[in-house]
Amino acid sequence: MPDPLIRVVAEIASTNSALLERLSHGEAPAEGHWLVADRQTAGRGRAGRVWTGGYGNFMGSTAVALHEGEALPQTLALVAGVSVHRALMTVVPELAGLALKWPNDLLVNEAKLGGILLERQRDAVIVGIGVNLAEAPEVPGRKTASLAGLGHAVSRDAFASALAAAWAEDLTVWHAGGWPMLREEWLGRALPKGTLLGVNLSEEGHLIGGFAGLEPDGAALLRLADGAVRAIHAGDVELIGTSYSGEGIGDASGG
Ligand code: BTN
Repeated sequence: MPDPLIRVVAEIASTNSALLERLSHGEAPAEGHWLVADRQTAGRGRAGRVWTGGYGNFMGSTAVALHEGEALPQTLALVAGVSVHRALMTVVPELAGLALKWPNDLLVNEAKLGGILLERQRDAVIVGIGVNLAEAPEVPGRKTASLAGLGHAVSRDAFASALAAAWAEDLTVWHAGGWPMLREEWLGRALPKGTLLGVNLSEEGHLIGGFAGLEPDGAALLRLADGAVRAIHAGDVELIGTSYSGEGIGDASGG
């Protein structure tokens, strides 16, 4: 039976663009509802990258209405990460090596399995999610993976329903002021503390440090080689390695 929360289209430029367009025409965000495409002709990833999803992969978007007094909108990327992780563990309980990388990546054994693109329009946010269920795109300089490639055959529609259910729960918690709890959930599903990450900052160039937790507002904490801890609020974070032999690298937040 089709999931009433999910509308599937065969082809669309981008599910994120379609929902942004609806908002720009004055439509209210239909929270909990998903637009899912079999194929995107102009799918977008972060930092202006193209997201070419293969047939059988999940490509879908949903809208969130923002209200005063709630957690920062960018925390929704981390909440979406929690929902995607939960949905994947529902459809493939034996899946090993799944981990979230700040801010928007889903990795399996250090290879990219999916990503999240958050786009804001006034008092609403579109959350777009791509997950390589059937095939992994080739991305120069980056390891990618698909569930099928790991031996797990997962139907796109089964995953979409699991995601819609997980997201509905997590979004309810977020709207009710539950971000601190979701932050802990994210940390429990993330790369381990101490994992070496690199980030390009416009003023300071390339910084490398051990992942050391999350600020209360969702910024990532990196412990640098000199022991200093830096909060990273925005940027493309690259995974350098999961093991680090340096001393003192790791937890900075207790969270
Ligand atoms: C990333 O760069 O990791 C984020 C990828 C997000 C891709 C999804 S696919 C569905 C939605 N529509 C888009 O155009 N992009 C997002």
